Amino acid sequence: MLSNATRETSLSGVFVPRPVTEQEIHALDEAFDAAHDGPLDTANPRVGCVLMSADGLTSVVGWHKGAGTPHAEAMALAVARSTGFKLHGSTAFVTLEPCAHHGRTPPCAVALIEAGVRRVIYSYPDASPLGGGGAALLRRAGVEVLGGINYQRGKELIFSWLDNAPHDVDPQQWVPQRPYVIAKWAMSLDGRIAAADGTSTWITGEQARAYAHTIRSTVDAIAVGSGTFHTDDPLLTVRDTPEQAHPLRVVVGNRPVSEGSRACSAGASLLHVPTRDLPCFVETLSHNSVRRVLVDGGPTLVSALIAEQLVDELHVYVAPKLLGAGKSAFDDAGVTTLTAAHHFSVVETQRLGEDVFIRLVATTDLGDAS
Ligand SMILES: NC(=O)c1ccc[n+]([C@@H]2O[C@H](COP(=O)([O-])OP(=O)(O)OC[C@H]3O[C@@H](n4cnc5c(N)ncnc54)[C@H](OP(=O)(O)O)[C@@H]3O)[C@@H](O)[C@H]2O)c1
Repeated sequence: MLSNATRETSLSGVFVPRPVTEQEIHALDEAFDAAHDGPLDTANPRVGCVLMSADGLTSVVGWHKGAGTPHAEAMALAVARSTGFKLHGSTAFVTLEPCAHHGRTPPCAVALIEAGVRRVIYSYPDASPLGGGGAALLRRAGVEVLGGINYQRGKELIFSWLDNAPHDVDPQQWVPQRPYVIAKWAMSLDGRIAAADGTSTWITGEQARAYAHTIRSTVDAIAVGSGTFHTDDPLLTVRDTPEQAHPLRVVVGNRPVSEGSRACSAGASLLHVPTRDLPCFVETLSHNSVRRVLVDGGPTLVSALIAEQLVDELHVYVAPKLLGAGKSAFDDAGVTTLTAAHHFSVVETQRLGEDVFIRLVATTDLGDAS
């Protein structure tokens, strides 16, 4: 059996992240401690960053001090350069996903790449249209990235900065109106998610599937419709992750759920939401402390969620295959004419082996769609 370090390099570009070590968890804790020296206003997030040398023996710390000042990563890089810290091959631990945004300061993701940082471990994903996308940028540059580590602490740290969060309640008690909903599917070039005989494993290749598991590690829950649940008997887990660290597994639909299903095995808890009322479904997720959910199909459920405007983000994996027949990725969702189409903006594309990944966010203001 290959060691983790060997696997990373031998799989010719396949992203197989090495699990986080005790020492790395400790370094991320230090980044959290540093972040607490940051601003308490709501205009700026509190963020901390620790850079650890390749040999794990030295580290430097940075944190964001407020509007117009360097981001935590930039401060840590500046400290590193002024103290002779060896940046090449180092690991960055950040409480918030490094930004991809050119604002008053350049994108931190680019600064880390240019500094020769080899591995980035962050806590809370930056889902904002402005700053998000840093992890993807880093990965495209060959940096190993692991997100969603100590996710709840990362969320609490920047709670007051997040959209829609009230400022006068305890973040532990806060239940948002509904979670951030990501809908995902893998399809052929002609938009099929299964072949004519119903087979759907696997449409995409290993690299795309590994990436999908990395995304799974950043959410609080993985949900499927009862069609997928009964057809595929999915595990709804994150690959190479200890049992207690898996997101909540969820199935929605009126059909009863068998205790013998794989998602219920090994003592795992499965939340069954026996309804077709989707606002009720997302509310139920909120009441189970789910702030970010990945809906992993199938097409009936995803189409119904989109029709009800309950989807914030789409993750579409396109395989260079033509199936000609079989289940379509998207059902009737109330669109009878082109101008009524559900509209999304592409915020990221990347090639994953033979497949293409497209990340899109829901567009509420279509502007001039002509
Ligand atoms: N390629 C991919 O990415 C991918 C991903 C997932 C699944 N799949 C494939 O997709 C197929 C299953 O898809 P599917 O469309 O049949 O099933 P589905 O979308 O997984 O589930 C449909 C079920 O969702 C429940 N539901 C809850 N709210 C609903 C609403 N508002 N409207 C309609 N249904 C609602 C209903 O369950 P009740 O009838 O119990 O009420 C309904 O039957 C399988 O072949 C699977 O392999 C492919």
